[in-house]
Amino acid sequence: MKNIVVLISGRGSNMIAIARACREQRWDARVAAVIGHRPDAPGLEAARRLGLPVDVLDHGDWPERDRFDVELARRVEAHAPDAVALAGYMRILSPAFVRRFEGRLLNIHPSLLPAFPGLHTHRRAIEAGVKVHGATVHLVTEDLDNGPIVAQAVVPVRPDDDEASLAARVLEAEHRLYPQAVRWMVEGRLQVEGRRVCLRAASPADQPLLMPAAAALR
Ligand code: GRF
Repeated sequence: MKNIVVLISGRGSNMIAIARACREQRWDARVAAVIGHRPDAPGLEAARRLGLPVDVLDHGDWPERDRFDVELARRVEAHAPDAVALAGYMRILSPAFVRRFEGRLLNIHPSLLPAFPGLHTHRRAIEAGVKVHGATVHLVTEDLDNGPIVAQAVVPVRPDDDEASLAARVLEAEHRLYPQAVRWMVEGRLQVEGRRVCLRAASPADQPLLMPAAAALR
């Protein structure tokens, strides 16, 4: 049985999507821990309700970022993770943390990278006038929002969209995309060649990810 550790900062809806998919689709894996750094993060309560082991490492108790990350790494490592999923984890990780888990560390970013790295992606997408937007799951490297891309989901940008409506459409796509990518990782199916990530033994069941654009336009 493979172990997944999920790191969150807030709401935790992607964490919930991963945990549910793992159970419902009977992956040979479990969410071994959900770790948060804000004691009041709603996602931690949601994780407890799902019966998942929760660990809180309050960043307020750790003024030095590097030392916080050393302790975080220790707690993550305690679960012998095969995948570490950043799911709305809003702290920048130290290079030492990233190096330690490189190859097992995934993030989801709410844009079609390399477009719109950083914050406020939905607002920036609307302002830029793009016609499609979406989400990206990528391997985490020391270069922020710039690791090798594992998978992307595309959604249309509609003329009447505002930031909230576009964010909601992207989030729905994230909840399909991220579990799929985590599953590929724990199944050992991601093959990294430089910046390119290939999926071993791909089948139609792996497809799902370009769909929302066409479906939502109808
Ligand atoms: C998501 O939009 C994710 O792409 C971004 O932060 C948000 C987290 O949402 N990194 P949630 O906490 O998973 O609900």
